Amino acid sequence: MTNPSAGQTPSKAWGGVFREPTDKRVEAFSESVSFDRRLADDDIDASIAHARMLAACGLITVPEADAIAQGLEEIRGEIRRGAFEFTAAKEDIHLHIESALTARLGDIGRKLHTARSRNDQVATDLRLHCRRAIDRLDEGLLELQRAFLGLAVREQGLVIPGYTHLRRAQPVLASHQVLGWCEKFERDRSRLADCRRRTNVLPLGSGALAGSSLPIDRDHVAEALGFEGVAANSLDGASDRDFVCELAFVIALTMTHLSQWAEEWILYSTQEFGFLRLPEGFCTGSSIMPQKINPDVLELVRGKSARAIGNVQALLVLLKGLPTAYNRDLQEDKETIFDSIDTLEAVLGVAAPLVAGTSFDHARIAATLERGHLDATSLMEALITAGVPQRTAHETVGHLVRRAMTRGVSLAELSDEEFSREWAGWTAALRGALGASRAVERMASFGSTAPARVADQIVVWQRRLA
Ligand code: ARG
Repeated sequence: MTNPSAGQTPSKAWGGVFREPTDKRVEAFSESVSFDRRLADDDIDASIAHARMLAACGLITVPEADAIAQGLEEIRGEIRRGAFEFTAAKEDIHLHIESALTARLGDIGRKLHTARSRNDQVATDLRLHCRRAIDRLDEGLLELQRAFLGLAVREQGLVIPGYTHLRRAQPVLASHQVLGWCEKFERDRSRLADCRRRTNVLPLGSGALAGSSLPIDRDHVAEALGFEGVAANSLDGASDRDFVCELAFVIALTMTHLSQWAEEWILYSTQEFGFLRLPEGFCTGSSIMPQKINPDVLELVRGKSARAIGNVQALLVLLKGLPTAYNRDLQEDKETIFDSIDTLEAVLGVAAPLVAGTSFDHARIAATLERGHLDATSLMEALITAGVPQRTAHETVGHLVRRAMTRGVSLAELSDEEFSREWAGWTAALRGALGASRAVERMASFGSTAPARVADQIVVWQRRLA
């Protein structure tokens, strides 16, 4: 290959040592610009900070840094307008931007890559990209939490059956169940924040693997780009992708929560359950069955969790065999993490409005609320309060439920005589433990579905999400 500055055809940024041109098939095989062009903004931000640092350290002049910054902003504008030409021959977004700069500025552009390698450059770009994604995802999750909180407030006081093993278990407040999702997404947000801290460390200045002999100031770049620290080992700094795996995992777990939610609401909105009415704008129809109103959005939320989970595995397998420092395998991290980010963002974009448009069907819920002896545990705890040992109380109520089941009635529909036959200490006052609503009202413990506790939690969430 030839030296472009010697007046020959411009070619590969790394072409100096080569005697043969790159095979076209290799260019097509190894290019990444088709997907890493989405790092353009991050690459330009990082390059501007790098150029300013080079000037501050006397490696280039201040007017040269100004020209570089201005040229890069022009290139940013061209890329945004769609006026920038991408070609596989220039491999990746980094070489595209640098060669466009050199086309504009000549030798000044050729100074930008001073004390820098694409290895620490791509690591920096990707960290900036993930950091911005984390902040957007956090905002999206906050919006979703607000939508759930809104639903909890609208449905305050409504009692629904609570399930374990998908069998009727104990009655709960609808608001309590809805706030349960806020808890999960709060943990996801806290994991994002934790992941952000480890993402927010500057690799630039690690060079290819060994650092640089030039008098650079890495803290200068870190401060300009808002990084909270500087990678302390150049070998690790240029190749660490833990932050990519962590983000993929946090996204996968968040998608797992979203999938559980989607499954629950698909079920609760069926004809058979009939607890929830989904907004029709978030349902779709059938091309053959005219009556169908399908929960496709929720099904896609559930379905899309699969790729988010798969991406975590893809990343771990990508890394597991790599020796120290940069290996080209690392180029494969991008499409994977981009896909995870895009998937969660797309889901959050529809989840919050879907929740905001959903309501509970009070009549349908009330019609079957007393089925399934949801108050059995409430009665057992009332017997415990009256001095019966827990195991005895459990067995006694078990007998009573069996009686009620045999007759096809609720516990409240048993006579005082039937109660007395199972437990001699029975008094009519114990009926205060019966019925789904009373069972909920008698709850007391912190974190329980007691109306006063749930009301407290609503206030806590209103403050937290304000
Ligand atoms: N496109 C490459 C990547 O994404 C950039 C770094 C290339 N470095 C190299 N030495 N070939 O990983």
